[in-house]
Amino acid sequence: MQRHDWLKAPEIQPSTRVNELGLPNRAPGSAREADRALLALAQEGFLDTTHFDTVRFPPPPWANEVIARASQEGSLAYTPYRGHPDVLKSVAEGLHTTFGLSFNPDTELILTPGTQAGLFGALASLVNSGDDVVLIDPDYLFSERILRFLGAQITHIPLMGEANPQPDLNALEDAFKRLQPKLLVFSHPNNPTGAVYSPELIAAIAELAIYYNVTVVVDELYARLVYEETPFTHLAAQAGMKERTITLFGPSKTESLSGYRLGVVAAPAKVIKAIEDIQSITALRAPAYSQHVLVPWLHHDGLWIADRLKEFWKLRKITAQAFAKLPWLKLHLQKATAYAWPDVSALQLADTTIAQALMRDAKVLVSPGYQFGPSGAGHFRVCYARDEQEWTAALERIITVLDNFAVQAGLPKRIELGSPLYQQRLNEIQGTKREDRGNSLAQALQTLASSNSKVNNPSGSLQQTCQQLFMRLIK
Ligand SMILES: Cc1ncc(COP(=O)(O)O)c(C=O)c1O
Repeated sequence: MQRHDWLKAPEIQPSTRVNELGLPNRAPGSAREADRALLALAQEGFLDTTHFDTVRFPPPPWANEVIARASQEGSLAYTPYRGHPDVLKSVAEGLHTTFGLSFNPDTELILTPGTQAGLFGALASLVNSGDDVVLIDPDYLFSERILRFLGAQITHIPLMGEANPQPDLNALEDAFKRLQPKLLVFSHPNNPTGAVYSPELIAAIAELAIYYNVTVVVDELYARLVYEETPFTHLAAQAGMKERTITLFGPSKTESLSGYRLGVVAAPAKVIKAIEDIQSITALRAPAYSQHVLVPWLHHDGLWIADRLKEFWKLRKITAQAFAKLPWLKLHLQKATAYAWPDVSALQLADTTIAQALMRDAKVLVSPGYQFGPSGAGHFRVCYARDEQEWTAALERIITVLDNFAVQAGLPKRIELGSPLYQQRLNEIQGTKREDRGNSLAQALQTLASSNSKVNNPSGSLQQTCQQLFMRLIK
């Protein structure tokens, strides 16, 4: 053997753990390969809808002042791994005033570099290789990848109901009974659908978790991005759940503070201790100067958040107006997040094909469905928190690409604005259909019932039927 043979670089092999991140079987090749193939098509000036536009929606004005002051004053750079004690105290107070949740800042909270590090720390501190973990499908794309990295056995529980997606409780109970899983993991509000689960559903999950003794990791990153007084129920607030729930919070989305890399985990003391141990070998601590941004957070930003939600709501409407043009596309915008999750399965194309075509021909990067779970096939996700004009133009390009596919597939072409079908589709997508129809039908029936009572109606049956129907509708 020649000497220079010894000097040749060895072929470096990534660990099998890293290969697991590819979610084999979900996309052609692997999910990571598909992710890369999509990005490789990026053209100059493409619109990235995989996250919030933090230029159009910048962080609150006080954020930069707080961080600049912290660095100028030479605040503690090496904070304890859990975070600066004063900041932790302030976060505990904020979680109490904003969400009604009580956590001890010394033992039940840890600040992390982004919600993502909180999620990784929580899962890594609890999951052993081979453990059964139950995951909602679809759900946040990285939960499954982290769990695979840790060697967990994953069982998916589907969301049921297109207009109002909620986890299938029968399937959940069956999985709990059969597997005695280590964990249930889900995001709430749900990423990608934007669904908020009803108080009854959260109570039912709590009941099952207690009965089958399952610990739950709930990612509530979008808990402040909930529209129209929709009730939002925290799992940790349910009786008996605080001691078995790990809750993730963070200011990355509604507040656009993703660049500050901050997250918060609230959990029983023993779990926080284990997450601290993980953090001590990964990132050490959340960025020390950024941590101070969490002092005004949840305390002084209520009005600012309300204004931001109004702007997101307008963009939700623009999104609905565009997608309503395609009569075959299924979409039900939900009451939280700034995501739309269109079902384009009628095209009978792989979601990778659709995402690649949108990138190539519409210059828009979307998140393909496979990323979020097996049920993501035939879907893609877009984040509509963007510049209004840019988004309106991008939507038109998206619609054109999808409409071309539809023509090839023999599906009906796009419909005209203002046609009755268009209005019906718009109501359906915005989630106003049932209430509006219900209300107007109720009104019509009430009028009919009262006018009918004024004429002599011997059988009275029409009036009775109307009244019964009316009562059923207003219930
Ligand atoms: C549900 C969920 N959890 C965690 C994260 C990571 O957020 P962060 O930027 O705070 O790390 C995201 C980001 O998209 C998310 O959607």
